[in-house]
Amino acid sequence: MKREIWRTKAGLIFAAAGNAIGLGNLLRFPSKVALYGGGAFMIPYFVALFLIGIPLMLIEWVIGRYAGAKGHGSMTGIIGSFFNHSYGSRVLGSIGVSIPILIVCYYIYIESWTLGFAFFSLFGQMPQPVVSEDPKTAMAPFVDFFKGYTAPSAWAVFFLVITLLINWIILQRGIAKGIELTAKYGLPLLMMMGVFLGFVSLSMNGWRGLDGLLFIYTPDFSRLTDPQVWLEASGQIFFTLSLGMGAIATYASYVKKNEDVVKAGLYTAGLNEFVEVVIGASIAIPAAFAVFGALAVPELAKEGTFRLGFMTMPAILMSLPMGSLLSTVWFFLLFIAALTSSLALIQPLVALLEDEMRWSHAKAVNVSMLLVSFGAFLSAFVPGFIDDVDFWAGTLMLLFFGLLEIIIFVWIFGVHNFHRELNTNSFLKIPKGLVYFYAVVSPVFLVILLYFWGVVQLPKVLSQMEPNIVISRAFVIFMILLIAFFSVESRRRYLAGPHM
Ligand code: ALA
Repeated sequence: MKREIWRTKAGLIFAAAGNAIGLGNLLRFPSKVALYGGGAFMIPYFVALFLIGIPLMLIEWVIGRYAGAKGHGSMTGIIGSFFNHSYGSRVLGSIGVSIPILIVCYYIYIESWTLGFAFFSLFGQMPQPVVSEDPKTAMAPFVDFFKGYTAPSAWAVFFLVITLLINWIILQRGIAKGIELTAKYGLPLLMMMGVFLGFVSLSMNGWRGLDGLLFIYTPDFSRLTDPQVWLEASGQIFFTLSLGMGAIATYASYVKKNEDVVKAGLYTAGLNEFVEVVIGASIAIPAAFAVFGALAVPELAKEGTFRLGFMTMPAILMSLPMGSLLSTVWFFLLFIAALTSSLALIQPLVALLEDEMRWSHAKAVNVSMLLVSFGAFLSAFVPGFIDDVDFWAGTLMLLFFGLLEIIIFVWIFGVHNFHRELNTNSFLKIPKGLVYFYAVVSPVFLVILLYFWGVVQLPKVLSQMEPNIVISRAFVIFMILLIAFFSVESRRRYLAGPHM
């Protein structure tokens, strides 16, 4: 079976950037920055970007191209191919397929809110704004509206079904005609809408929004000794760049054999960071600063990740002239960002079922979407599900898998081999010394993070056991086992089938 490839270079870059750019940039990033003290968060953030973001991005691109040439696009096949497809290696690799699928189960539900809110804004169905400098008063109608919508309401279920259908149709159309085409139109649109809203937010109340930007970019060394800030900043790097999820490697497996993956990796990281630290930083926080003042922002962030994006932003935008239209642009921007990422989070499972199980593309997409739909409905109906799955799959498993990637693809593959692959057709010759540096420093950094994760985060989460948690934990285990089963079962088929 011939594997698809990206049709054009620009399409490849847009798709890869779309993979990384998502709700992480526009919702998660501003909330974390606000919660962890602005400039105090940004120092660990940039350290993590250079110590784990850049190297893992390059590793996933290099390994994706390498394994794609052998017919593998999922971590099951990629890691398996380094160990003669032993059962153990395929099971280990399968974790790199369960992570993105677990994440997308809740991610796609949040994506559906953005679509729903965009429609409500467009058709004038958002609450009437209350003009007040007190955030509680101004936001009250929007908090009620959000709670009612996500209860979940019939509308929430309706837009979830529509969002699942959109993802399903695009994935059915395949790599070039589906994902690449969506990104080719979506990314430029996203950039334009983002720059426009950044301008609107910064210029609010006589450019008072600029104070918000200053809050983010004034270095603050006071919290550097707090492990929690380091954990959150590093977690954000993983999430926003889609690293430790296998999602970048899957996209990289669809490149031409002679593609310059260093260039592609640097473009992916560069565009993602532009949309995060320039555009993402210029919208929600500056708008909240301009309207509610500096003191209100950390308080708003304490109320949860969704407060700024789904309640504060519409409350502010709706009170401006042409508010409905501005609110539509905001939610549509979020929707496009989320859509291009959810496609990328589902594709690893599609690749596993296609490349390893040797199923038809249509069947692989249908089964993947069925599993995602199941998880998405649980996200909608089981309280606490989103937070719990995000905690395990969207935080811990990423750190663990990132470490595993460095050990397998650099240590076990060998620095020499990795360096050769890295520099094949690269516009930039990367010195071997840098590979050695990353091979030592990045794993040490990750081990320290995992240690702190164990002593700081774990006890907190384990002490907050609710009855519903049983459902989310059972779902996580079910997904991991099911995907491990596909990975083991497919070994026989893979070894029997025609090799590339
Ligand atoms: N990288 C994706 C995001 O930032 C998952 O939303």
